[in-house]
Amino acid sequence: MSTTKPVRKAVIPVAGLGTRFLPVTKAMPKEMLPVVDKPAIQYVVEEAVSVGLDDILMITGRNKRALEDHFDRVPSLEATLEEKGDEKKLAAIQESSNLGDIHYVRQGDPKGLGHAVLCAQRHVGAEPFAVLLGDDLIDERDELLGEMIRVQQATGGSVVALMEVPREAISAYGCAKVSPVEGESFVQVHGLVEKPAPEDAPSNLAIIGRYVLHPAVFGVLEETEPGRGGEIQLTDALQTLARREGEGGGVYGVVFRGRRYDTGDKLSYLKAVVTLASERPDLGPELRSWLEEFVAGL
Ligand code: G1P
Repeated sequence: MSTTKPVRKAVIPVAGLGTRFLPVTKAMPKEMLPVVDKPAIQYVVEEAVSVGLDDILMITGRNKRALEDHFDRVPSLEATLEEKGDEKKLAAIQESSNLGDIHYVRQGDPKGLGHAVLCAQRHVGAEPFAVLLGDDLIDERDELLGEMIRVQQATGGSVVALMEVPREAISAYGCAKVSPVEGESFVQVHGLVEKPAPEDAPSNLAIIGRYVLHPAVFGVLEETEPGRGGEIQLTDALQTLARREGEGGGVYGVVFRGRRYDTGDKLSYLKAVVTLASERPDLGPELRSWLEEFVAGL
């Protein structure tokens, strides 16, 4: 179909205050919460790098220095581990500092996800780009972002990741009205609404935190008025693009049926940690048998 520039860059908004996790997020970014033995944000960066997006821009804010430190090198610690000959731990700390080329820009005034994405305009320029939200972890065994990039390249529009959720849960998400595209595995998005009440929702398809966007979104975001919660919503800008024809218009959806772990609130975060730990060869067997005993004793 259309000729479009390749997708090379990933934008990861991390300026959120993490109020749902207080008090642990009082002095620590929520993105640094451990999921087994890696901070949540590292899974997200690894996902971007795994599909070739090694130019990463984090949209940060106050209190986020630990993130920059995590992806930086620590020569003194490396030297100590080298001296001890502890190659396993050395590899573990080097892994996070060898993940692509990470840039940072500060959002200053947190005015919503749409505003965070707009802060990426100068770095991204006139190319399509991915946006990954840190609260959603996608199992590395299940493909999503690579497929979304293919759909963006084939359509020349913007692409959102969708997942079926129970209707009563839709009010926590952006919701999409879609129709099938003949002969294709992706769908066309006709309308998007941010966090509708279940009775007003056009479907049970929720936007999960992965987007591959045409740069036309920047111009639209500049014109987008604050929406739900008084914030500039990415969903509202995409609604405008869904209705637009021609260059940069059109929004498509990839319906994800794989494993997604939500780390956005306390209960789902705990479930994500237990699920991922129970699948690890080094921890899983013992954790599973303990869990069985624990549940039997309740
Ligand atoms: C954001 C988006 C929403 C999307 C969700 C996915 O909401 O605004 O459309 O469904 O991420 O996690 P938030 O969870 O930041 O409130």
